[in-house]
Amino acid sequence: MNRLAGKVALITGAGRGIGAAIALAFAREGAAVVLAELNLETARQTAQRIESETGARVLAVETDVTQAASVRQAVSEAEQAFGAPDVLVNNAGINVFCDPLTMTDDDWRRCFAVDLDGVWNGCRAVLPGMVERGSGSIVNIASTHAFKIIPGCFPYPVAKHGVIGLTRALGIEYAPRNVRVNAIAPGYIETQLTHDWWNEQADPAAAQQATLALQPMKRIGRPEEVAMTAVFLASDEAPFINATCITVDGGRSALYHD
Ligand SMILES: NC(=O)c1ccc[n+]([C@@H]2O[C@H](COP(=O)([O-])OP(=O)(O)OC[C@H]3O[C@@H](n4cnc5c(N)ncnc54)[C@H](O)[C@@H]3O)[C@@H](O)[C@H]2O)c1
Repeated sequence: MNRLAGKVALITGAGRGIGAAIALAFAREGAAVVLAELNLETARQTAQRIESETGARVLAVETDVTQAASVRQAVSEAEQAFGAPDVLVNNAGINVFCDPLTMTDDDWRRCFAVDLDGVWNGCRAVLPGMVERGSGSIVNIASTHAFKIIPGCFPYPVAKHGVIGLTRALGIEYAPRNVRVNAIAPGYIETQLTHDWWNEQADPAAAQQATLALQPMKRIGRPEEVAMTAVFLASDEAPFINATCITVDGGRSALYHD
């Protein structure tokens, strides 16, 4: 409790899934939270749930992370409501899984627009204030696709590799100003995104079983388990952790094969 007391946190894509779990965990730890989300309806519902469960100060703001002006506006609304964000979690992301040579130009662009430009737009909007104040923590939600490849999932891993590069570059640039930039690489986490992927397969039940069979812990992760790591990185318990990535995948990416 209160590991984030007095802090203001802005979380993108927080209407559901991992982002919603992070917003709830932050609120439980005493932060005022801003849910910056494309889908204002889910953001409002989640904000209400968090407020009634925790009593924290919560704000839902319609935000499209692909648009720099929209992200700047969300930061400005956060400032007006609660004060400048001490913590930014760039969580909004989409799966774009294609065969490289049949992928359309639009697939490439919408993947990078959300999964990489979106992260930069978030960083760009909060960094000047964090640098000026001499403190801040940015947490970028990458993926194990940031260092492992599954055929047919192009270009999502390319964008997620970029998120790690961005994290390392900005972490080094602003370390002298006490602004830390880190990433989390979740493995399979049970969210709507994962269920949508299973449901797109010819045999969804078999696809789900195949995924579980690949996991050393014989289960996939829960959004709350990613959120716990985000709390740690956002808090004052990680003052010397910077420009790095913490993997939350139950050991899956360390496994060669059974
Ligand atoms: N679920 C997994 O297994 C998994 C694994 C590794 C990484 N991730 C990453 O975690 C993050 C969250 O994934 P999730 O599973 O919770 O997904 P999700 O689809 O359940 O939630 C993503 C949220 O982002 C929002 N969003 C999408 N585009 C947006 C935009 N342009 N601007 C603002 N918000 C936008 C959506 O409306 C949605 O509420 C993503 O970056 C994803 O790549 C997920």
